[in-house]
Amino acid sequence: MTAPPVPRHVAIIMDGNGRWAEERGLPRLEGHRAGAKTVRDITTYCRELGVRYLTLYAFSSENWGRPETEVSGLMQLLTDYLKDERATLLKNQIELATIGAVDKLPLVVRALLGAVKEATRGMSGMRLTLALSYGARDEIVRAVRAVAAEVKRGALAVDDIGPEHLEAHLDSAGTPDPDLLIRTSGELRVSNFMLWQIAYSELYVTPVAWPDFSRARLDEAFASYRGRQRRFGLTGAQVAPAGGARGGA
Ligand code: FPP
Repeated sequence: MTAPPVPRHVAIIMDGNGRWAEERGLPRLEGHRAGAKTVRDITTYCRELGVRYLTLYAFSSENWGRPETEVSGLMQLLTDYLKDERATLLKNQIELATIGAVDKLPLVVRALLGAVKEATRGMSGMRLTLALSYGARDEIVRAVRAVAAEVKRGALAVDDIGPEHLEAHLDSAGTPDPDLLIRTSGELRVSNFMLWQIAYSELYVTPVAWPDFSRARLDEAFASYRGRQRRFGLTGAQVAPAGGARGGA
C-alpha cells in the first residue's frame, strides 16, 4: 500500500510548551499561550491540505496534577480558544469533537465545548478532536466496562467479543485510526495517548517545541510520512507486489 500524499488522520502530542517558555525566562503559561496560537495555525493548515481528521492532545488525565495556576491557566486558554475559534471552525467547515473524561472539566469549558460541538455537528471539511482530560488507559477501561455491561445483560457472548466491540465504545468511535502520530519536543514516548488506536500509526518525532512548530515543519512531517511503506504486519512484497518494497514492521 502506498501512503497517500496527505495522511487522512493526523494525531499530535503537542509537547514542549513549558520548556519553550522557561528557555526564554517566561512563565510556563506563556508557552501554552504560544502553543494555542500554533493550534490555530496548524488546524487551518491541515484543513487547507485536505487532512480529514486532526486529533490534538491538549490536556491529559495526569495534567490535573500540575500546579493549580497552570491548570486554571490552561482552562482559561481553552475557554478563550473555544470562544474565539467558533467562527473560524464554522467558516472552514470543521467539526469539533472531544475524547477523554470531559465531565471532569470546569462547567464553563463543558458548556462552551457542548455549544461549539453542536454548532459544528456534521460539518464535512475536517474533524478536529481535542483530547481533554484524556488518558488512553482510562478510555480503554471505560470501553471494557461498556462491553462487560453488554455481556451482563445478555446482548453479547464472551466468545463473540472482538476488537470491533471495544472500538465501538472508545471515545474515538467513528473516527479512523491515526495514520501519522507526531510528537514535538523530542521525547521518545507516547504518554498514554491513543494506545489502542495507534497500533499501526506511523510515528514522527521532531525536536522542535510545539510553540515553534509551523507549517514548514508539518510539511517535513508529511514528507517523511510519504516516504514510509505501511505494511500492517504483511510483507513488503504483499503490499507492493510491483516492487519498491522497503524494510520494517
Ligand atoms: C505539553 O507541554 C502541553 C500541554 C500539557 C498543554 C497543551 C496545550 C496547548 C497547546 C494550548 C491550549 C490548547 C488549546 C486546544 C487551545 P508541556 O507543558 O508538558 O511542556 P514541557 O514538557 O516542556 O514542560
